[in-house]
Amino acid sequence: MSGAAEGPGEAPTVADAAQEIDWAALDRAALAVRERAHAPYSAYAVGAAILVRSGRVFAGCNVENASYGLTLCAERSAIAQMVAAGERDPIALTVATIGPLLGSPCGMCRQTLAEFARDFPIRLIAAGSGGAPARTTSLAALLPDAFGAAALSR
Ligand code: THU
Repeated sequence: MSGAAEGPGEAPTVADAAQEIDWAALDRAALAVRERAHAPYSAYAVGAAILVRSGRVFAGCNVENASYGLTLCAERSAIAQMVAAGERDPIALTVATIGPLLGSPCGMCRQTLAEFARDFPIRLIAAGSGGAPARTTSLAALLPDAFGAAALSR
């Protein structure tokens, strides 16, 4: 499979969609907001940047608290920005963490992302030098068979 949509009636795949994204711009937004993380307890700063269908980008960082369990992850922080701006249609996400290993959205963030779209490409990048090469995955790969609003309809 080439991954390209092959004709009329064939829906574009998430891999197709990923090729259309300006990932360099989204990565820059994730890296920039990561610099503003409030992570004095873990020292693990995370930046997330969400591109929505209108072309706008919403960025969020992790916000920790002395009461550790109150920590807000970067991805949910970015989603809150998106919703507060009246946007609801994410089409791509970059998550930036320190290397050498790439991070990956936690389970709570995966479910939060799935509230707004079942699938879109997610790029994982390492800040600074010496990190693992970036990797592109997708929400459906990270959260298959997600629970969603359809299950609540009566
Ligand atoms: N964190 C995120 O912001 N996003 C993730 O996907 C994983 C973890 C944050 C939470 C906490 O502030 C720090 O990383 C260490 O867990």
